[in-house]
Amino acid sequence: MSNTETLLEVRGLKKHFPLSRGRLLRAVDDVSFRVYPREILGIVGESGCGKSTLGRLILRLMEPTAGRVFFKGAEITALGRHRLSPIRGAMQMVFQNPFGSFNPRIQIAGALMEVCRYYGMSREAGAERIAALFADIGLSGDLLNRWPQELSGGQLQRLAITRALLSDPALLVADEPLSALDVSVQAQLLNLLLDLRESRNLTMLFISHDMTVVEYLCDRVAVMYLGQLVETAPAGELFSRTLHPYTRSLISAVPRLDAAGERERPAPKGETPSPAEEIPGCPFASRCSSAEPRCLRERPPVKEAAPGHLVRCFLVS
Ligand SMILES: Nc1ncnc2c1ncn2[C@@H]1O[C@H](COP(=O)(O)OP(=O)(O)OP(=O)(O)O)[C@@H](O)[C@H]1O
Ligand SMILES: [Mg+2]
Repeated sequence: MSNTETLLEVRGLKKHFPLSRGRLLRAVDDVSFRVYPREILGIVGESGCGKSTLGRLILRLMEPTAGRVFFKGAEITALGRHRLSPIRGAMQMVFQNPFGSFNPRIQIAGALMEVCRYYGMSREAGAERIAALFADIGLSGDLLNRWPQELSGGQLQRLAITRALLSDPALLVADEPLSALDVSVQAQLLNLLLDLRESRNLTMLFISHDMTVVEYLCDRVAVMYLGQLVETAPAGELFSRTLHPYTRSLISAVPRLDAAGERERPAPKGETPSPAEEIPGCPFASRCSSAEPRCLRERPPVKEAAPGHLVRCFLVS
């Protein structure tokens, strides 16, 4: 993978939602990372840590409080609506719930054709594009004349992926696309995503709370806790040389077939603090069994512990 070209760069991105009495909910709090062409970057973390908000900010479905997003070198956070529209087709999103993502009053052919029209394709060009994607994605043509409510979750999620690929995007942001599906269907879709990376030159941001899925699918993984990235590393390294105590607790919470004995580490103590709480130090300090006094006082800086392995923890030398 080339580190010299960057498809997507996120710099200091923040989304703070105003609450009552002047308080702020820091859903995304100073997040920076890069994504390189044809890689799959996993964004992993517990419910409410800000993963979906991050995805929406990147696609500019939501305006950031601060920070910048660059796509193919162009700063999309600086573009007006008009100049943003050509970029819209180059970045697409697939959402968690396939059952809610198609209008129940429109047959599949109509739903897909509408997208083709939106991207300026003629009827013939749209039909050709749909047929090519159906072949790649393993969908039978007779689904075109069906209604969404007649289809299974797996079929609908394949159709949602088809719809996202109609505009031939370079980047796909997949927000927990498998979590509503049965395990056997999940496995098929994981392999489909890997095939599509090859056949369509896709780069992916794969949002998940499932460490097993992320380990299987992703080239690199960024671990998010309370709106911040606490550790980013190549997937193999993240699992074999885990540095952040929060990442360790996520990994040790996964039952592993190869683990003969008991879990190596206990789950972290206590509850995740509310993102509305102002935390001066490390966001994980209140739950970390190794925390020192300064962890509660100061926010740790990002350290590059090994090439491409970034971690925000005072305890890592
Ligand atoms: N429009 C909004 N207004 C106010 N708060 C919001 C809004 N959207 C999200 N939040 C809050 O921001 C935080 C992050 O939410 P987000 O949906 O990004 O988390 P997530 O990591 O995707 O969670 P999940 O795994 O459950 O999907 C949560 O505390 C959520 O309640
Ligand atoms: Mg989410």
